[in-house]
Amino acid sequence: MRVAFVGKGGSGKTTMSALFARHVASQGGPVVAVDADINQHLAMVLGLDRQPEPLGAHLSEIKERLRGDNPRIPSADVMVKTTPPGRGSRLLSFDDLAADPYALTTPDGPRLLATGPFGEDDLGVACYHSKVGAVELLLNHLIDGPGEYVVVDMTAGADSFASGLFTRFDLTFLVAEPTRQGVSVYRQYREYAAAYDVALAVVGNKVHGPSDVEFLREHVGDDLLTWMEHSAAVRAMEQGRHFALDDLEPVNADALAVLRKALDEQEKDWARFGRQTVEFHLRNAQAWGNERTGSDLASQIDPDFVFGP
Ligand SMILES: Nc1ncnc2c1ncn2[C@@H]1O[C@H](COP(=O)(O)OP(=O)(O)OP(=O)(O)O)[C@@H](O)[C@H]1O
Ligand SMILES: [Mg+2]
Repeated sequence: MRVAFVGKGGSGKTTMSALFARHVASQGGPVVAVDADINQHLAMVLGLDRQPEPLGAHLSEIKERLRGDNPRIPSADVMVKTTPPGRGSRLLSFDDLAADPYALTTPDGPRLLATGPFGEDDLGVACYHSKVGAVELLLNHLIDGPGEYVVVDMTAGADSFASGLFTRFDLTFLVAEPTRQGVSVYRQYREYAAAYDVALAVVGNKVHGPSDVEFLREHVGDDLLTWMEHSAAVRAMEQGRHFALDDLEPVNADALAVLRKALDEQEKDWARFGRQTVEFHLRNAQAWGNERTGSDLASQIDPDFVFGP
């Protein structure tokens, strides 16, 4: 099952992604955490003192791996971030993803993959979505199931909607602080989510008391799933002090359990995944892909390929 943490800059996406990944891992669930933000911070909150090798720096190799011997994709050069799998493509099991050569194991167990920061070559040149494209490609080729957890820390704000990536999840958690700014993106997310049949739940963060919860309820209604309080343990971690999951305040640990329960209860919808993979591929083909690759990318769609296990 795949879950994304989205929200405004600074709302706590990275903190919550990491705490959630650690929480699930501590209960024995296999977890792959993915830093899909170019501003990398997830490794640190997962307790790692170095960054994984950036996926964005190995895009061609990843494409080469995934295209397998799909006859509709003769080379990695014509493969774009939205190129869907077809017969012959190399599909990934959860274990394949966890064993990715660029993943690192973090102290509490989750494996970590990262999109990577801008390289010097990219500045002002390549669109950054081409880097995030590695994550989109991997998720499009992933056949995961219940009891397997892929946790993705997304880029801030509505940038997530600039590609089809936001439709690749079983559940999306919108992290919101109890302020007007904090809930300002909610309406927009709600509309996109509804338009694409994406399951969305709001998780409050840095809550200081009942009036904060009331504020969140007032603005997001029943979409408010749970909330984390402002955490002294998280603050101490950010100050460089040792942090273990057990240091987390019980109410905040409870919130993580609520998130997991919500994800576990989510139904997988492979038909939607398949439909939207094709839809976003066609859209990208028309917008830039055909021109960029000098080919008709619609021909990469295998009408007889069935998404799912
Ligand atoms: N529940 C919490 N209690 C205390 N501090 C928190 C909490 N959640 C997040 N923070 C702090 O808020 C700051 C922003 O959090 P974080 O980096 O997770 O946000 P983000 O949404 O990932 O930001 P960005 O958009 O920059 O990626 C960090 O200093 C983090 O330690
Ligand atoms: Mg972040």
